[in-house]
Amino acid sequence: MIKAVRGTRDLLPPDTDLWNQVEEKVRDVFARYNFHEIRTPVFEDTSLFARGVGEDTDIVTKEMFTWEDKGKAASEKSQSLTLRPENTAGVVRAYIEHGLDKKGTLQKLYYIGPQFRRERPQKGRYRQFYQIGAEIIGPPSAGSESPARDAEVLEMLATLLDEVGLRGWQLQLNSVGCTEDRARYNEALREALKPVVHQMCADCQRRAETNPLRVLDCKVPEDQPIIEKLPKMSQYLDEPCREHFSAVRSMLDAVGVPYTINERMVRGLDYYTRTTFEFTHGDLGAQSAVLGGGRYDGLSESLDGPKAPGIGFAIGEDRLILALQAEGVSSKEKLDAYIAPLGAGMNQHALKLARELRRAGVTADIGDETFRLKKSFEAAEKAGAKYIVIVGENEAASDEFAVKELATGKQEQVARAELVGYLRH
Ligand code: HAM
Repeated sequence: MIKAVRGTRDLLPPDTDLWNQVEEKVRDVFARYNFHEIRTPVFEDTSLFARGVGEDTDIVTKEMFTWEDKGKAASEKSQSLTLRPENTAGVVRAYIEHGLDKKGTLQKLYYIGPQFRRERPQKGRYRQFYQIGAEIIGPPSAGSESPARDAEVLEMLATLLDEVGLRGWQLQLNSVGCTEDRARYNEALREALKPVVHQMCADCQRRAETNPLRVLDCKVPEDQPIIEKLPKMSQYLDEPCREHFSAVRSMLDAVGVPYTINERMVRGLDYYTRTTFEFTHGDLGAQSAVLGGGRYDGLSESLDGPKAPGIGFAIGEDRLILALQAEGVSSKEKLDAYIAPLGAGMNQHALKLARELRRAGVTADIGDETFRLKKSFEAAEKAGAKYIVIVGENEAASDEFAVKELATGKQEQVARAELVGYLRH
């Protein structure tokens, strides 16, 4: 038997009802905050991610699905292509390619779609997973650097999670400063690690050389006391970065969005500057980040684009759904009615009635005239219908139908004209 590839999975009903309900709700929230959808390809030139996400990141060094797309003719060059591991680089590429900076305004863009990372699969971690993300990007003259944008994005996320029905989330906030701050901090970490690094795990020993910031990400219990004593990022922020971060925090306080400062939160992508954040959820186990994001003020320039500071996030939709299900949230989809034709020649009457009801907004399923009454009732129960509507010869002739509420057993005769209102109340 051929099975779905390791790390990929099929999403089936009724789970897909919840997925759709979440997506409908987030589109509604995005619209209220004036975000509009962008759709970029699921594969891109490999160098976009190498340069955008960062050559030294785990994503680029270990996790990308990359292949060589050979030219058709011998004269045609081959091209290295990669399934997108994330979508910020793609959005910024599109921003540059279409000259969106020339509009002179902020671009508020959102996307929903699959991403691909060759990680070790486990609960909440897949090789094909789905992100719901958004980005605000534009020229500085349009206000793209303002801490007000950071606060708007974070407040929107708090609203979005509340509206999809997630309760137990926590916002972890940090500032990683500008490129120069980070270079100074990295140097300070490298120095501080020198005398102690030999006591640490193999990964930390490697990271201390290549990218000391990543040491903060270490989960090995024995390393924690050493990491706690390392210098803190906040000591290395320059004055403008410090003020920017303080303005973001004041606005969050003013609107009442709760957060915790987590100076050890190191995001896995290199493009971040200043504000970074994650929303975590206690029911998710090891993969506790429901979403992550932050500012990327230099990304456009590193892709040869104009100066275009930005901030955004991506929700792991798979994890959001897991967290909702852990909290007992399920889809509100329901079947109003099951139409049961009873006896020969009744299929066409039932179909006509179902057509009227469905066109009027009733969700209805329909049986077959060869079913006995008992089988129709069983089918209606299994389908989860609220009512069963019997379409027999008498009903078809009188235009009055026997309607039974399955949960209570209450049965009434309802005239055709009243049926829509009756079934939907
Ligand atoms: P990220 O932190 O790499 O950021 O991913 C965002 C979210 O995607 C994670 O918090 C997690 O919920 C989900 N996720 C990541 N990998 C997996 C996986 N293998 N399986 C399931 N879910 C996963 C980004 O991707 C940035 N582009 C976010 C961003 C947008 N920053 C600025 N703008």
